[in-house]
Amino acid sequence: MCALDIRPAIGTERLILRGPVAADAPLIAELANDLGVAGMTTTIPHPYSQADAEDHLARVARLNPRAGAEFAIEHRTFGLIGMLGFREEEPRRPQLGYWLGRPFWGRGYATEAVRAALDWARGDWRRGAVWAGHFAENRASGQVLVKAGFLYTGDLERKPCAARGGRTMATRMMVWLA
Ligand SMILES: CC(C)(COP(=O)(O)OP(=O)(O)OC[C@H]1O[C@@H](n2cnc3c(N)ncnc32)[C@H](O)[C@@H]1OP(=O)(O)O)[C@@H](O)C(=O)NCCC(=O)NCCS
Repeated sequence: MCALDIRPAIGTERLILRGPVAADAPLIAELANDLGVAGMTTTIPHPYSQADAEDHLARVARLNPRAGAEFAIEHRTFGLIGMLGFREEEPRRPQLGYWLGRPFWGRGYATEAVRAALDWARGDWRRGAVWAGHFAENRASGQVLVKAGFLYTGDLERKPCAARGGRTMATRMMVWLA
């Protein structure tokens, strides 16, 4: 498998956002195999195996760079701590998603990563707006998005959660304008 991404890395004070590589699979599986992580996302199943992480990285390697981007979030000391990605199901309507491994919560890393990714989306990727949604119960993610400059659109959508057997969750939609 060749999950190599040639996108330049983005550096912040404590983090590096870089293209994921196949060798990241074991650590991604270890950190994402946590219902507290997967259960707040739409797509990560639970349990989550190394084969699931390898499949994900293979899909990322085939992503059209015009329609999406994926970054491993690497701490300058601790190594890979999570993942962040943009996907466009409609042209120029990128949706942001991210997660961090539980040991790394509560230190401002998600906010730092999201801010850096938005700078990249505005600059290198030339996007004028980014959409995101968080499960209504996920107040921490809402707080991350607010701190990064997202605003609530007022739309409450129902989105399926793979880790909870596809159950649909009330999801608060947000938008960020570049
Ligand atoms: C959501 C997540 C990314 C947050 O990462 P993090 O690095 O802890 O986030 P930050 O430290 O940058 O910011 C978290 C903010 O939420 C706040 N917060 C945490 N738990 C909260 C809660 N239960 N209610 C309200 N606010 C909460 C924190 O106080 C902090 O805000 P502050 O800086 O104003 O005090 C992380 O918990 C995670 O990966 N969760 C599982 C996956 C997920 O939810 N992904 C997002 C899907 S939309």
